[in-house]
Amino acid sequence: MAIKILECLNIGLHYPGNNYFTLKDINFAVEADQIVALLGESGCGKTSLLNVASGLIPATSGQVLFKGQPITTTPNGVSVVFQDACLLPWLNVAKNVAFGLGFKSLYVPKTERNCRVEAALKEVGLLDAADKYPAALSGGMAQRVSLARTLVRRSELSFLDEPFSSLDAITRRSMQQLLLNLLRAHRSSALLVTHDLDEALALADRLILIGREAGGTKLADWDLNSSLGTTGSPAAPNLRLTADHFFQALRAEISGRLSADLTD
Ligand SMILES: Nc1ncnc2c1ncn2[C@@H]1O[C@H](COP(=O)(O)OP(=O)(O)O)[C@@H](O)[C@H]1O
Ligand SMILES: [Mg+2]
Repeated sequence: MAIKILECLNIGLHYPGNNYFTLKDINFAVEADQIVALLGESGCGKTSLLNVASGLIPATSGQVLFKGQPITTTPNGVSVVFQDACLLPWLNVAKNVAFGLGFKSLYVPKTERNCRVEAALKEVGLLDAADKYPAALSGGMAQRVSLARTLVRRSELSFLDEPFSSLDAITRRSMQQLLLNLLRAHRSSALLVTHDLDEALALADRLILIGREAGGTKLADWDLNSSLGTTGSPAAPNLRLTADHFFQALRAEISGRLSADLTD
């Protein structure tokens, strides 16, 4: 039985002032070494769910467990990557990556901090850019800094909210491969929010579909590995090839459900 890193149990979310629930009765788990994609149209509640699951905002009902313990705030061992890299413009790349390691909650001594930053920058291919400032970086480089910032925290679980959606298609593909390499190399789990069906199919071990018109509920989920006749996390080094018959059919089914969700 695989270890559950994260469990979302009957999550409901109502923002004060709204006359509707943004999330209703959502259940899912992220297991060790697993990449779980949350897929859904814009406005279906993906960011809200990620914020609840990562402890950034409290659920109205239900519970989030991190390694079996209920969370009240973002736990150590967890990191969050947003759609925009969110770098501090007055700090250079190395200092942006180190930012957070000096805080009381996750104090890492300075020499250890420098080692971790150097190793992380090397992994994302940015060692030469350590002294650059965010204004001098391309979108892809900025997101690589953001991934390095996650790496130095040695997170067991990363939350990623559409991390590559503002990048061009070619950079996005290479960032997806980089993310996969990093997660597999560090045996880290991830909850990846995306509205890109092909990104979800190429990267995820499990795919969860969230509906908009149904009002932030889980419509379905798929274990993409067992669907292929394999079991467990594949530790696959490469983005999944999804041109075969099985994935064509799955893509058509999910596209159909997404458009039905919008027109119901
Ligand atoms: N801080 C907030 N206060 C009130 N309503 C919000 C807030 N954040 C999001 N919402 C509402 O929740 C719904 C889902 O939004 P969001 O989680 O951002 O969706 P997604 O990330 O899938 O695009 C939308 O109807 C949005 O208006
Ligand atoms: Mg969002």
